[in-house]
Amino acid sequence: MLLVINVKLLVTMLILAIETSCDETALALLEATGGLRAPKFKILKNLVSSQIEIHRPWGGVVPNLAKREHIKNLPLVFEELIGGKKIHPVRNLALTRAPEGPLGRAISNGVKPDLLAVTVGPGLEPALWTGVGFAKELKKDIFKKIPLIGANHLEGHLYSVLLDNKLKLSEIFPAVALIVSGGHTILLRVDSLVKWKKLGETRDDAVGEAFDKAAKMLNLPYPGGPEIQKLAAKGNFEAVNFPRPMMRDKNYDFSFSGLKTSVLYYLRDNPKANRADVAASFQKAAVDVLVAKTIRAANEFKVKSVILSGGVAANTFLREMLGNAVRKNGWNFLVPPMNFNTDNATMIAAAAYIQHLRKKNHAIRAQANLNL
Ligand code: KG4
Ligand code: ZN
Repeated sequence: MLLVINVKLLVTMLILAIETSCDETALALLEATGGLRAPKFKILKNLVSSQIEIHRPWGGVVPNLAKREHIKNLPLVFEELIGGKKIHPVRNLALTRAPEGPLGRAISNGVKPDLLAVTVGPGLEPALWTGVGFAKELKKDIFKKIPLIGANHLEGHLYSVLLDNKLKLSEIFPAVALIVSGGHTILLRVDSLVKWKKLGETRDDAVGEAFDKAAKMLNLPYPGGPEIQKLAAKGNFEAVNFPRPMMRDKNYDFSFSGLKTSVLYYLRDNPKANRADVAASFQKAAVDVLVAKTIRAANEFKVKSVILSGGVAANTFLREMLGNAVRKNGWNFLVPPMNFNTDNATMIAAAAYIQHLRKKNHAIRAQANLNL
């Protein structure tokens, strides 16, 4: 029995993952091993086809445009992933006609995953459906007997810190995790790889959304987060004293819509304001709240580490401020490498691996409001 378990842990699984919850068409091929005790990942391919240029003129993601682009891109990115054989660009229909015969084999080009994974939510429903539909076609036509896991995008962000983790799990948990993206701002108490509790979340705008909206007010292009960061680097963050909403409240919820409105009023009343100072002061206010609440939770729950993930975790100022505060307390700080914060499919493969080992699955359909 012991031997069987050990052998199982050593088995390496090849995972093919698909992510289309927002405006990135992302596919990845990963090797996973180690089981639930010491999961390890080796990224073989990580492809992200960004639609930023398509949505930029609209100042945000347009769901039906995202859907159209995903449908166009999925077969092309898949083709690149398997490194071969052209797939008919007329979307997934080509796959429907591919039997498990020579054509199907040619299309898979020798790639034989042990697990397929697709994001089922949360996200934009029309966008999610494209990935789900594509994954189902892959399973039906090419990878018939391979299990298909419906992965939770937020679990993907949470587990993205495992992609390059050097610590033992016993050195990580208990932890608190701050997940910050364009759609979510969530603080979790994480007791183990598979057990967590939501401590709080935003009551209105997500912090990424606040960055995007403040950027718009400053006439910066979409997506605003990286633009604010760039402009803020040239400004003085003490120039404007923006509010720190809910920072001292005795709960772990957040609110960013008031901060956003303060930027609007400030720019209206001070049309000649130095924009870099405004960007820096806004960024400082948002980061102060995130850091204060995360550190308070970490103290309360006597953690061994603090986890930061989601698109806004790409913000170097937040990484630095939170990282310094965490290390000062002697805790470990886990944050994904730079290119794995914003949406990608490697994190979906990581979440699917854990789910598969737990024998847990989500229904394979778009679930726009799926929660953690
Ligand atoms: O995780 P993600 O790619 O998509 C969602 O799941 O929402 O996060 C996208 C969000 C956007 O709001 C974007 O402006 C923000 O992450 N973001 C940043 C930075 N890079 C991306 N926000 C602040 N600073 C950054 N460097
Ligand atoms: Zn995301």
